[in-house]
Amino acid sequence: MAQTYDVVVIGAGPGGYIAAVRAAQLGFKVACVEKWRNAKGELALGGTCLNVGCIPSKALLGSSEVFEKTRHHLGEHGISADGVKLDLAKMLSRKDAIVSKMTKGVEFLFRKNKITWLKGHGRFVGAEDGAFRIEVLDEAAEGAAAKAPQLVDAVNVIIATGSKARHLPGVPVDNQLVCDSEGALSISEVPRRLGVIGAGVIGLELGSVWRRLGAEVTILEAMPTFLAAADAGVRKEAWKQFTRQGLKVHLGAQIGSVQAGKRGVKVDWTDDRGAAQVLECDRLVVSVGRVPNTDGLGLESIGLSVDERGFIPVDEGCRTAVPNVWAVGDVVRGPMLAHKAEDEGVMVAELIAGQKPHIDYNCIPWVIYTSPEIAWVGRTEEQLQAEGRAYKSGQFPFSINGRALGVAAPEGFVKVLADAATDEVLGVHVVSAAASDLVAEAVLAMEFKASAEDIGRVCHPHPSMSEVLREAALAATDKRSLNM
Ligand code: FAD
Ligand code: NAI
Repeated sequence: MAQTYDVVVIGAGPGGYIAAVRAAQLGFKVACVEKWRNAKGELALGGTCLNVGCIPSKALLGSSEVFEKTRHHLGEHGISADGVKLDLAKMLSRKDAIVSKMTKGVEFLFRKNKITWLKGHGRFVGAEDGAFRIEVLDEAAEGAAAKAPQLVDAVNVIIATGSKARHLPGVPVDNQLVCDSEGALSISEVPRRLGVIGAGVIGLELGSVWRRLGAEVTILEAMPTFLAAADAGVRKEAWKQFTRQGLKVHLGAQIGSVQAGKRGVKVDWTDDRGAAQVLECDRLVVSVGRVPNTDGLGLESIGLSVDERGFIPVDEGCRTAVPNVWAVGDVVRGPMLAHKAEDEGVMVAELIAGQKPHIDYNCIPWVIYTSPEIAWVGRTEEQLQAEGRAYKSGQFPFSINGRALGVAAPEGFVKVLADAATDEVLGVHVVSAAASDLVAEAVLAMEFKASAEDIGRVCHPHPSMSEVLREAALAATDKRSLNM
């Protein structure tokens, strides 16, 4: 007889595992289906984020930044270091160890919260008597387990199957010469010339990693601009910083044929003036977006369909068209971000428990972990102009902040956008080494509907980078900045 659970979650990425933990905390009997196998063939929890996304990319960004600073930026502190060498194998194993620690942490959370891990691929096989039947099959398992699907019943199902890298037609990814983001996290030697298709978040973050480690990086971007979702002022500053660092970015590039051979990869492309160009590189990274994972989920067996782009349609509470079937994270609309997936997971578990949670999607921050980092929350100036909303803007640079000078991070600024009449904060945009942490204060302010003056009147530690946010808020209020 099939076991019956109150909640079965399909997928144990940040959307799924957090939903499972919250549902278990709320007293439900919970199982989570996960099939991920790591490069060693071991089953692992944590999804894209922990295994091949946020966590390993930030480990490599951290290590490569230390390498670059040690090689090029010690002099200004009066420090010299000779014989600085890169041990890439050790750097990669440090990253793998961090991943392993984090994924084992999720296993611990499952044990602690008595969540059953159903190992294998999950799919709906029908619904009967108020419960959904789910089949779990681990085809990679040894022996009989590979052929014997497990059947479970669920009163509620949360689909959290995430996304995978989008590939380009005619550009086969082998994760050796031509990589997607997964392969780009494990390149075993620093390529002399690295080509990247797509100047989005992954192209810029992983392009930065390999540039810092010594590769000559060329990024080909189809659009006439890059980081289209960011505020124009932020884009301009980012462009200035990245090109100064030596990242070569070609905008308006149309990719023609891609040929991988013994001596590397040759990309035929057309530039923004229509001239034919050739990029020869040792490795190529294709980072042109991600697509939702809904293959083989058996959605048709419960009468659920996906939209034209493959996403599962949901309402603001992540309810699908089928009652008691929910979907969260990358597999539904909205930004493909781990913290957005997590918050949706919490929301759904609480909705199942009859609570009234709510997510303000306008308050989901973005962070790009380049150097300097780029982060924002809320509206950009272009969005406010398009909406016809009257706003005030205040901006303050890090170049005259004592803490930023002390830690040798004077690049960037904070820009605060506030409603012209009410002074409510509508958007905050940060370019800074500390942007990922600074933006959290802005998110909190916006969640509490703070005014720019509220931020300006709050005592901030001195010296700290957070003073720049305060100064930008004051500047938005009535240009009463205290330090400029
Ligand atoms: P996922 O993390 O993709 O997890 C889905 C899980 O479902 C997977 O483990 C998959 O194996 C499993 N699954 C799928 N189908 C089935 C099935 N039928 N049966 C069983 N299991 C199944 N976001 C950030 O916010 N910050 C970052 O710094 C960041 N960095 C990133 C860096 C890279 C290189 C990449 C690729 C992504 C990054 N992201 C980042 C995005 C982030 O990883 C995703 O938004 C997040 O992982 C989405 O979570 P999820 O739970 O929806 O799906
Ligand atoms: P992306 O959507 O950020 O960028 C893809 C880029 O590729 C775009 O600029 C697009 O115009 C370009 N492009 C598309 N087709 C192209 C083509 N044929 N030729 C040339 N350029 C082309 O997608 P990316 O970088 O793959 O990342 C996927 C998602 O993963 C992100 O959108 C984000 O949600 C998530 N992510 C988040 C991170 C973070 O929060 N720090 C880090 C990495 C990924």
